[in-house]
Amino acid sequence: MASSSPRATITACERFLPDRILTNEDIERTVDTSDEWIRERTGIAERRILDDQPTSFMATEVAKGLLRRRGISGDDIDLILVATITPDMVCPSTACLVQDRIGASKAWAFDLLAACSGFVYALVTGAQFITSGTHKRVIVIGADRMSAITDPTDRSTCILFGDGAGGVLLEASEDDSGLIDFELHADGSGCDDLNVPGGGSLWPATKQTVEQRLHFIRQEGRTVFKFAVQRMAEVSLSLLQRNELTPQDLDLFVPHQANQRIIDATANKMKIPADRVMSNIKHMANTTAGTVPIALSEAFDEGRLQPGNLVQLTAVGGGLTWGSALLRWGTAA
Ligand code: COA
Repeated sequence: MASSSPRATITACERFLPDRILTNEDIERTVDTSDEWIRERTGIAERRILDDQPTSFMATEVAKGLLRRRGISGDDIDLILVATITPDMVCPSTACLVQDRIGASKAWAFDLLAACSGFVYALVTGAQFITSGTHKRVIVIGADRMSAITDPTDRSTCILFGDGAGGVLLEASEDDSGLIDFELHADGSGCDDLNVPGGGSLWPATKQTVEQRLHFIRQEGRTVFKFAVQRMAEVSLSLLQRNELTPQDLDLFVPHQANQRIIDATANKMKIPADRVMSNIKHMANTTAGTVPIALSEAFDEGRLQPGNLVQLTAVGGGLTWGSALLRWGTAA
């Protein structure tokens, strides 16, 4: 980035979690599993479930919250970006629905698909429009209603996911706060490791695709587990190193919340003390594009993010995709 360009800084962060809680004990009643197995293998105790509403509902609540916290209106927004793999519909984008509902009459809007890396991808994308001076205010949201694409009869996946959304408002920084650097990756050869095969142009919805359960998320759990640990640590260390920083310089590390064992193994590889690693998976499970902004918003509301703090956001997901963003925290609402 040219030094004359302003950094894109987070001036507000917000989250939305549905009220209904689905516990491990609830799941014990529907598939052959146990609370003990789920906690030991994943660290998850419960997840939130959104009933009778689509993803745009959660994303809109997040957008409204951002406007409220910052004391601005929809008309002040230039761009809305929603990272999701559970859009309300194939077309139009969920971002367009949010744009309409918050009255962002001057904003353009689009969805971005990078699964669990979606928010990190979207944050970096949105930041470019601030740094270039093209836009003043960009809303970036990660939102997923995973219950819409999770097979309730598949014990290897139904325990892992939850519904939720989080987001940030990006503006030009007036100091050295904001996005310092990023590193993003993709490897489409891993398509079969984690996907939702049905409902696109490869397998348009038919009676057969429904019977074959092709509209649900499926994954190679062990392969994804190993890939996640290796890539999250690798990309995080690489990004720190090229900025002449070490994990010990971080005030807060906010990893994708897929499995507590993935979080612990990544933090161990990086040698980050546990008290500097954000984790809320016990109560939220994996909300896909929602995990990082939800965790960030929680950390902020808990007072764990102070002006000047060095923060790293790292995620991995379907694609396969992975990436990391390094930021200096500023003054947020
Ligand atoms: N309850 C009880 N047993 C279960 C179970 C459940 N919910 N899910 C799977 N099992 C069984 C398996 O059938 C298998 O039985 P078998 O040995 O008789 O075949 C056994 O437990 C071990 O399965 P395995 O898949 O090897 O377990 P694991 O330790 O790898 O844990 C995951 C499974 C899914 C929790 C783990 O692989 C994981 O978290 N992977 C990453 C998934 C992820 O995060 N995806 C999104 C990334 S963005």
